[in-house]
Amino acid sequence: MKELVNFFIGVIVTCVIAASFAEVPTGRFSNGRSMGDFIAQALALNFAPPYLQPNATFYKGVNFASGGSGLLNTTNPGLAITFNVQLEQYKNVSTLLEKELGALAAFELISRSLFLISVGLNDITFGNFTNPTTQKQYNATQYINLMLEAYKSGIKTLYASGTRKIVLFGEGVDGCEPIIRIQNNSQCVDFLNELALEFEAGLKQLVDEFHVIIPGLHLVLAYQYNIEHDMITNPQSFGLKNATAGCCGAGILNAQYQCGTKVPANVTGVHQTLCKHPSEYLYWDYIHNTEYVDKVKFQNYWDGNTSFVYPFNLRTLALL
Ligand SMILES: *[C@@H]1O[C@H](CO)[C@@H](O)[C@H](O)[C@H]1NC(C)=O
Ligand SMILES: *[C@@H]1O[C@H](CO)[C@@H](O)[C@H](O)[C@H]1NC(C)=O
Ligand SMILES: *[C@@H]1O[C@H](CO)[C@@H](O)[C@H](O)[C@H]1NC(C)=O
Ligand SMILES: *[C@@H]1O[C@H](CO)[C@@H](O)[C@H](O)[C@H]1NC(C)=O
Ligand SMILES: *[C@@H]1O[C@H](CO)[C@@H](O)[C@H](O)[C@H]1NC(C)=O
Ligand SMILES: *[C@@H]1O[C@H](CO)[C@@H](O)[C@H](O)[C@H]1NC(C)=O
Ligand SMILES: *[C@@H]1O[C@H](CO)[C@@H](O)[C@H](O)[C@H]1NC(C)=O
Ligand SMILES: *[C@@H]1O[C@H](CO)[C@@H](O)[C@H](O)[C@H]1NC(C)=O
Ligand SMILES: *[C@@H]1O[C@H](CO)[C@@H](O)[C@H](O)[C@H]1NC(C)=O
Repeated sequence: MKELVNFFIGVIVTCVIAASFAEVPTGRFSNGRSMGDFIAQALALNFAPPYLQPNATFYKGVNFASGGSGLLNTTNPGLAITFNVQLEQYKNVSTLLEKELGALAAFELISRSLFLISVGLNDITFGNFTNPTTQKQYNATQYINLMLEAYKSGIKTLYASGTRKIVLFGEGVDGCEPIIRIQNNSQCVDFLNELALEFEAGLKQLVDEFHVIIPGLHLVLAYQYNIEHDMITNPQSFGLKNATAGCCGAGILNAQYQCGTKVPANVTGVHQTLCKHPSEYLYWDYIHNTEYVDKVKFQNYWDGNTSFVYPFNLRTLALL
């Protein structure tokens, strides 16, 4: 798989079926459950089926996640399903629901559903702005603004379809990911961290703006930067032992070759490795968090205060 990170809009609706986690690969970049799974479980729902799963039904959820997806069409073109296309896929699902349930019931279902959006990492770390030609066209602020404009436009599209509850995930410490660290002698790339912080701050502003222009839309921002930064600077306080390398992968910081991919035969002395205790690691692979870290974040988003989730937590959002 060429893709790099998960993106997810979950339409999550009422239902009560418990599920034990699969013992087969699930397509997630994780050693177990990821954020959407923890949220589904908190709502006593099954894990949402992928949009592209043949014959799936979407009354109780749908997952549009695509590794490498970005807000901008120019991010990982051809490698991932971008935000705009995900919105088109969602439109197909809402049309299907209208056909099957009738317009009124479909609207009712959608307005009660929780939508999860986590996007931006790929635009920052692998997008057009890393291209020197583009850097001459835009400065950082203008590039972040392009991302935020695409985000706003998507939220308006969702609102028009009946969406009333959306969780926006903020940006992590992108410049400290193993795949980025290996570009700087295992140190973080500060410039990418500044972009990540600027984007997360832009999302906070976006939440405040929409609160004024569309009061009936409930947007909640789940901050990622500070909690990840705390994990990197003080891993022991979270029970972590390694906050720099991937648990799974090959080469320096297990980040020269993605977890599970073949190391070319002419590259000697580099092997795929898997750590013994994934829950002691911040990163599962060269980009993504371990299940344990997503669980810690989830607990802070579900029940935590405004240091983690703004303007209120996910438990409150779910009950609205
Ligand atoms: C999907 O449904 C069609 C028609 O009922 C059937 O022929 C096909 O085998 C199903 N595919 C899967 C993967 O279940
Ligand atoms: C991005 O692609 C979508 C189609 O997926 C298109 O509707 C949209 O206009 C494009 N945006 C830009 C800025 O080119
Ligand atoms: C939406 O559904 C139509 C009709 O089935 C299909 O042709 C189109 O490719 C779908 N759009 C997306 C983005 O999957
Ligand atoms: C941005 O990325 C697209 C797609 O990769 C590419 O075609 C375009 O030339 C890039 N723009 C600049 C200014 O580098
Ligand atoms: C980015 O460019 C805009 C428009 O030219 C300008 O107003 C702004 O000050 C620039 N920001 C930075 C940080 O250079
Ligand atoms: C690489 O790491 C060093 C040490 O932390 C830092 O001073 C430098 O700014 C980093 N380089 C980039 C491009 O961020
Ligand atoms: C984390 O793991 C990597 C790769 O195994 C290793 O190089 C690094 O020293 C470890 N860091 C700590 C703090 O143990
Ligand atoms: C290994 O072979 C590939 C082509 O198959 C080549 O591009 C690469 O540079 C080689 N790497 C080394 C370390 O020799
Ligand atoms: C949120 O809770 C944490 C402890 O979990 C505490 O350190 C922090 O000060 C609280 N923040 C606010 C804004 O109340």
